[in-house]
Amino acid sequence: MKSPARDPTKHGTRHSLGLLARLSPKTQMDDSAKIAERRRISLRLYNLQERSHPARSRPERIPLPVDLKAYMTERQRRVDERLVQLVEREVPCPPPLRDAIRYSLLAPGKRLRPVLAFMACHAAGGPEDAAIAGACAVEMIHCYSLIHDDLPAMDDDDLRRGLPTCHKKFGEALAILAGDGLLTLAFQTLAQDLPPRSAAASCLELSKAAGIAGMVGGQAEDLGWERGDGSAKDPLFPRTEQPHSLEALENIHLLKTGALFGSCLQLGLIAAHCERSEGVDPQLRRSFDRYARNFGLVFQITDDLLDVEGSAEQTGKRVGKDAAHGKLTYPGFLGLAESRRRAQSLADETFADLRPLGERGEPLIELFRYVLTRDR
Ligand code: IPE
Ligand code: IPE
Ligand code: MG
Ligand code: MG
Ligand code: MG
Repeated sequence: MKSPARDPTKHGTRHSLGLLARLSPKTQMDDSAKIAERRRISLRLYNLQERSHPARSRPERIPLPVDLKAYMTERQRRVDERLVQLVEREVPCPPPLRDAIRYSLLAPGKRLRPVLAFMACHAAGGPEDAAIAGACAVEMIHCYSLIHDDLPAMDDDDLRRGLPTCHKKFGEALAILAGDGLLTLAFQTLAQDLPPRSAAASCLELSKAAGIAGMVGGQAEDLGWERGDGSAKDPLFPRTEQPHSLEALENIHLLKTGALFGSCLQLGLIAAHCERSEGVDPQLRRSFDRYARNFGLVFQITDDLLDVEGSAEQTGKRVGKDAAHGKLTYPGFLGLAESRRRAQSLADETFADLRPLGERGEPLIELFRYVLTRDR
């Protein structure tokens, strides 16, 4: 039997925060043990009741191939360890700010973006280790975007990665600053840890993807459609009608979600090629851009589907909120079945496109398959 639904910011919180407090930097445990324990605890703590849904037909679940699972676990471990080092090496940093940053950054995310950077570096013939700075920088930007996305002024969420959101635990001001700190540390990491040519190219790539013509712009568009009810309640977002074409819907997702995935692949490619005399291979660059475009769309389709069909227990975040907020989503626009068909057709197109990469491109294909059928 499932435990009754509970609000993690209320009843379960005292217990959970006690457990989390024991994971504070002052404990004797080493960092990777702390991260592993936090992953286990977060799953245990928020054993929330599945939201009952009348149309709970799930897409067929294809289990992760064992080798992809092992591949991802190993990369997640490497990234987690490096993220800890990168945050710790910044001194002085006010302890509450460091705690807020560590809390969100080291929470059990899937680390899909770092894994993509490693895979792209490998597919481009580079040593994967060269991609670690880019992998960590993109995860920092992603984590900052989640902290800000959850704020009351945006999606107003209280659960993220199976834990109370950053502002629920540390307050809004510190959550905003934790996001600001991660955004800045991402670019510092690239500038400090990469050779000059790669550093400049990576900073350019990531700033474009994360900025006003990328993720931040997409977030503004997303809020605009949600709030554009013509009531002039929010004069900053004066939209009056929803997009009337699939293209318009996808343009928002390409910015909001896709741009950052694109930067993962480009940072992996830069790590592999940028210091060569001939520079980055333009054909591979285009091929990665096409992959990232479709990956981002499929990722957002499954994110939207999980909000309708998933559970907080699986996803580590509240479900059923998109419709309640009048969000513009794939299932809302296309319906569930057509959304799944759209995801499958984007996948088929991508697999055909990656065939010329041969064995080197296989991890990218496997990861795409995983995203297509993911349940978290
Ligand atoms: C969630 O991203 C936010 C979106 C872009 C829709 P992820 O599902 O990759 O979140 P984590 O990193 O695993 O928590
Ligand atoms: C968030 O999209 C995208 C970014 C943070 C850039 P959503 O608002 O759909 O993400 P979730 O569902 O809260 O993770
Ligand atoms: Mg949002
Ligand atoms: Mg959100
Ligand atoms: Mg979502």
